[in-house]
Amino acid sequence: MRFLIACFVIALSVYFAFHRLEYDNGFIRFAKRSPGNRTAVKAPEKSPFEEDDLMMSWYMEDSDRHQSYSLHYDYYQDSCPTAERIITKGVRELYDAKPSVAPSLIRLLFHDCFIEGCDASVLLDADESLTSEKEASPNQSLKGFDVIESIKSELENVCPGVVSCADVLVLAAREAILMAGGPFYPLETGRRDSAVAFKEIAERELPSPQATISVILARFGTRGFNERETVSLFGAHSIGVTHCTFFEDRLYNFSGTGKPDPELDTGFKQELKTKCPFSASAPSPGTGIGPSTIPASDYGGVSSAGGNDGAIDLSYNNEGGEENFGTRYYRRLMQKKGLMYADQQLTGREETEMWVRAYASDTQLFRRDFAMSMMKLSNYHVLTGPLGQVRTTCSKVLPKN
Ligand code: HEM
Ligand SMILES: *[C@@H]1O[C@H](CO)[C@@H](O)[C@H](O)[C@H]1NC(C)=O
Ligand SMILES: *[C@@H]1O[C@H](CO)[C@@H](O)[C@H](O)[C@H]1NC(C)=O
Ligand SMILES: *[C@@H]1O[C@H](CO)[C@@H](O)[C@H](O)[C@H]1NC(C)=O
Repeated sequence: MRFLIACFVIALSVYFAFHRLEYDNGFIRFAKRSPGNRTAVKAPEKSPFEEDDLMMSWYMEDSDRHQSYSLHYDYYQDSCPTAERIITKGVRELYDAKPSVAPSLIRLLFHDCFIEGCDASVLLDADESLTSEKEASPNQSLKGFDVIESIKSELENVCPGVVSCADVLVLAAREAILMAGGPFYPLETGRRDSAVAFKEIAERELPSPQATISVILARFGTRGFNERETVSLFGAHSIGVTHCTFFEDRLYNFSGTGKPDPELDTGFKQELKTKCPFSASAPSPGTGIGPSTIPASDYGGVSSAGGNDGAIDLSYNNEGGEENFGTRYYRRLMQKKGLMYADQQLTGREETEMWVRAYASDTQLFRRDFAMSMMKLSNYHVLTGPLGQVRTTCSKVLPKN
């Protein structure tokens, strides 16, 4: 019986991966959404990536470990039936007012899930008993905390103490991806929030913008992501901003050589230099951690006022169309126009470069792979059942006793 239910959930998830459906007055209809065309996550002709097996193995792993405490599809169906709709609506409204919330939420999800799993630990503020992940040096200008907190407080009004911050974050990030023109993917819910944060682990484990391909693959590999999945996740770097401080060493003093990075296209380098003028505060090579004084500047192209607190718009000229999300990023990598050293490292090895090439030429393949990898990231090491807690405010653990 349990097996049949599992099969059903898997079939449903795969189905949902192909078609975004919306429930509307009891009728199921295909959703028309803008901005960004929804792309069904289509399977390529033949693929070494067996999605059904993969999803099966995630499910099995989960159910083996926690028996009856796995994630469920529509977990809040009875306890808070409007939860997912409140989250979706909240993100859309905030996105309409300020599109930069989308990249912020996606990056926040990565930083949460990558460090000890998707448990909302990244959202915690420091207090007497707790050092926060936000204070870890690689938090590097994380944003979007306020978005999660405002959606959470709306949920608290409707169903207090029910919906976890971890679920709010994964669902909000999914909606953000959709808003930014990326693919939809199905998500199960029922995550619980951690009662602790992991600052030291965040400092040690989040790869730096100067990370080599070996380091990148090792960090993602220990979390179960292969080369293909790792390369696909980097497609998120096709939206949002990167501050000069994270790549200016490549423009002026690469690895302490006093010269620019030879792996950077010359014309592109000149362009970047005008946007990121030389400053003595360039990160010293190896530490990979920029100055901690990065302003929470507004987005929208380049702002280079005041030395190197400038930021480069990762979406470049936003030429429109589906290729904006992902595809163009990989094309730029093939032209040696990666912004961070870590980005350009994806072309540094055949096992990853083959996926850069594939995604640069096949938008649908990328969208499908990205969706699958985001599902995997969103399910990484979640707390379920009696583990963890459901916070009422995302920045604070519940009071003890
Ligand atoms: C080796 C891996 C990675 C490194 C070193 C890295 C580093 C960075 C850095 C330094 C920034 C610029 C932050 C700023 O200037 O404010 C950034 C931005 C961003 N990253 Fe990553 N990242 C990595 C992987 C990922 C992954 C896997 C995702 C998501 C799946 C992601 C999503 C984003 C997004 C969406 C932004 C734009 C944020 C915004 O505009 O607010 N990154 N990343
Ligand atoms: C990130 O870390 C720095 C340095 O530890 C800290 O000053 C900053 O407030 C943190 N950022 C956020 C958003 O908490
Ligand atoms: C480049 O970096 C090295 C090592 O950090 C430093 O000794 C050198 O002075 C820098 N050169 C320039 C031109 O800033
Ligand atoms: C959506 O699709 C239409 C027709 O295929 C295209 O003209 C339009 O540019 C697309 N919009 C986006 C945001 O991708």
